[in-house]
Amino acid sequence: MRRREFLLGSGAAAGALGLGGFALASNPQELVIQPASFALRDQVTDGMVSLSPDAPPPVLYGNQGEVMRLPVRNTLPDYTAMHWHGLRIPNGMDGVPYLTQMPMGEGDQFDYEFIPPDAGTYWYHPHCMTMEQMAHGLTGVMVIAEAEDPGFDSEQVINLRDFRLDEVGAFLPAYTPRGAARAGTFGNVHTANWLQAPVYDHPAGGLVRLRVVNTDTTRIYKLNLDHAEARIIAWDGHPVDIDVPLPSVAEPLLLGPGQRVDFAVKMPEVEGKTVNLIAKLPGQPLRSMVGLQAVGASVARDMRELKPLAKNPVARPDLNKAELHEFVFGWTPEGGEPNNGFCGSLGYNFWSINRKPWPGDAAQDVGPLATLQMGKSYVLRLRNESPNLHPIHLHGLVFAPLKSNLRKLPPLMTDTMLLLKDEVVEIALVADNPGDWAFHCHVIEHQKTGLTGFVRVV
Ligand code: C2O
Ligand code: CU
Ligand code: CU
Repeated sequence: MRRREFLLGSGAAAGALGLGGFALASNPQELVIQPASFALRDQVTDGMVSLSPDAPPPVLYGNQGEVMRLPVRNTLPDYTAMHWHGLRIPNGMDGVPYLTQMPMGEGDQFDYEFIPPDAGTYWYHPHCMTMEQMAHGLTGVMVIAEAEDPGFDSEQVINLRDFRLDEVGAFLPAYTPRGAARAGTFGNVHTANWLQAPVYDHPAGGLVRLRVVNTDTTRIYKLNLDHAEARIIAWDGHPVDIDVPLPSVAEPLLLGPGQRVDFAVKMPEVEGKTVNLIAKLPGQPLRSMVGLQAVGASVARDMRELKPLAKNPVARPDLNKAELHEFVFGWTPEGGEPNNGFCGSLGYNFWSINRKPWPGDAAQDVGPLATLQMGKSYVLRLRNESPNLHPIHLHGLVFAPLKSNLRKLPPLMTDTMLLLKDEVVEIALVADNPGDWAFHCHVIEHQKTGLTGFVRVV
């Protein structure tokens, strides 16, 4: 497996040749879920969850069409299961407790093994004790490399997320019932790769692939780059083949939990200049989440030297034959507490799909929201009848947003659709991956208080 890392000096030289200044390395032999400590602020925060004792979950690398083996071992006293968000892999490897596997207890190991069919930017997180483990750090990025090198000099992976800490760096409760019943409970320490406003070196005049992943449990980021020589090249892993306008301060890019965006950035020619990824956070001045700093003599690359990313092998739905299924997302008329078995409960049901709250991961005799026939095309109409935004995520399949009652949607392929207030969006897909696929809001407080279900492909 290739681990791509910019090496100072040699990287700049290789970049001038257009070969990419990347070093090779491999994924950890085993992913050990364990307690961790890290200085998210000035003081060290204990009680974190990661895959090493003192660092964020690593970027995992794979190659499109090649086997990935990811043995996961749980050393926590709590149950867990690992999910590979956005990858179209066999159902048994999807990591959803009770639906695709049993939760892993303390000391348990599960050997995940699959062949990612699609290249792009993906991520991983637990799907059991989801709130507890994600809020405490267990969210990581996955990079699946294209078969053909698109020709960047370097790349930068950015894992954007918040933590909820008090003044001495200890964790505050990850959610409040008030938040869970509305837009969610927000963190107060804003990080990129667990750091506050890190600055990374990249070759002056070089071409950088910036992979931005929102792994937060709640926040919908409003982002833009303070730099004009950039282009959006992929969205939620999949190449974008039209010119999407670059986001700006006035019209930022909305990146919901679970979503990813890849930029091609031409670095400034002048050493020391930076390109910043800017976030607009409510009630705060604009803030740089990450800086890319130009180093060395300019390698003088040109954006036109980049090869367009090859499309992933996603089947195109046949809209003439597609059957329509409707889904309504909103508050729940019923109360009650979901039965999540070993996988943790927030103790409430506030949300629903088709006016029924999810009875819980461990509830018996729960049927699918829809049963789709293998190989057929479908249109799913997603209606948000609440004033809150919902990043609606479907496992195991990729879909094309078709139309919205509120806005023009760019032609994309995606696994997560951010539904705006009162929005109705139609999406289309080919049901070409058999199994039971979780379908839920990626605001974890919504997911864990009712806004979950699954779709069956037979
Ligand atoms: Cu990011 Cu159900 O997952
Ligand atoms: Cu997923
Ligand atoms: Cu939601």
